[in-house]
Amino acid sequence: MNSPGKLLFKIDAGGCLGGRLRVPGDKSISHRVIMLGSLALGVTRVSGFLEGEDSLATLQAFRRMGVSIEGPDKGCVTIQGVGMHGLQQPDGPLDLGNSGTSMRLLAGLMSGQAFPVTLTGDSSLCSRPMRRITEPLARMGARIESSSEGTAPLRIECGGALVGINYLMPVASAQVKSSLLLAGLYAEGDTCVSEPAPTRDHTERMLHGFGYQVSRNGNRICLTGGGMLTASDLDIPADISSAAFFLVGATIAEKSDLILEHVGINPTRDGVINILRQMGADIEVLNLRSVGGEQVADLRVRSADLRGVRIPPDQVPLAIDEFPALFIAAACADGETVLTGAAELRVKESDRIQVMADGLIALGVDARPTADGMIIKGGSIAGGRVLSHGDHRIAMAFAMAALRSDKPIVVEDCANVNTSFPGFVDLAATAGLAIRSYKEA
Ligand code: S3P
Repeated sequence: MNSPGKLLFKIDAGGCLGGRLRVPGDKSISHRVIMLGSLALGVTRVSGFLEGEDSLATLQAFRRMGVSIEGPDKGCVTIQGVGMHGLQQPDGPLDLGNSGTSMRLLAGLMSGQAFPVTLTGDSSLCSRPMRRITEPLARMGARIESSSEGTAPLRIECGGALVGINYLMPVASAQVKSSLLLAGLYAEGDTCVSEPAPTRDHTERMLHGFGYQVSRNGNRICLTGGGMLTASDLDIPADISSAAFFLVGATIAEKSDLILEHVGINPTRDGVINILRQMGADIEVLNLRSVGGEQVADLRVRSADLRGVRIPPDQVPLAIDEFPALFIAAACADGETVLTGAAELRVKESDRIQVMADGLIALGVDARPTADGMIIKGGSIAGGRVLSHGDHRIAMAFAMAALRSDKPIVVEDCANVNTSFPGFVDLAATAGLAIRSYKEA
């Protein structure tokens, strides 16, 4: 694990982005392929795997449960599946670092195992809400102990035979949906999850790719427990959530013209493209194709003048990880941008409403946080020093803001950028961002 608090980014003001680049592999898909590949019968060969700390935490967890996994080597991973009942008890708690996806999805999967396990993580992960999964999992028969605040470490006891449930999620969360579906693989009968709004559907698509039947009827997703998974090779597309920083950067920086290659544009993830286009962005979708059951394209983005918008509520879950970047776009837009219905941002790796508002205000932007969103009046960005609170996406969003600032921007606490985007500084510098990282004594 890195040592948070020491690494800083310094980005000189101005410049533009250009060329062609491929950002690292999709984080959500990388987690899931380790999980399903481990439980499958046969060998799963993966390319495009994200070698970031979050997905590596999942990989390491399965190694510790006896799965033989080769790599990653330049994004290639080979998983020797052990079958649905082949995992072994690890020799101590599984440390999932900063990764909410690892914790919540594994909690579901571990509830169906014949051994106890403890899931833990860093201070950010151990302060994030887990009742959203522990309560429905308990209704399925899982026995999970958490802190009195409902946070990790989670101690998952073995034994309780699981039974399928019908669950209407109170929040639109792909992690909750996936956690219950993964527990449902081990449950008696049907497990059905209804979502209040569409959320990323990688779990359903990948289960299908591994030969497991999952049905969708409107907003209700169901599977029947007791089946098996068959190994399936996978080429993971570049992560649209990482591409988002470059979509915003190239839009706000004059004279930019950038191509982002092989980006996953699954319709449950494309809110950032829709919102930026509504604001006036010039984003072209080129070479649209289907790869491993996911839609992939090259995205060409050129500078454009943006206008403030009211962000449509239906786009919020489809862009949930992209708001730090979108807030920077809003700060450069003509007029007011209003986000509502996004209270979930307060329980991400940091409180992304408060932390982004504090940073924007420190840079001289008119930003007003609300309980479930933000109101940002576009204008100039002065430059200065901001705190990322160890949140990878906040650090990368503020790095892009320097393309339009009057003076340099310094971002503190950037080590966690490695959780989702190893090599960010070098790739961004290649594209034209005047960024360097350094350690402060
Ligand atoms: C994820 C789901 C989202 C997202 C997270 C990854 C996933 O979380 O913010 O980065 O891979 O399922 P929620 O389900 O909490 O919205």
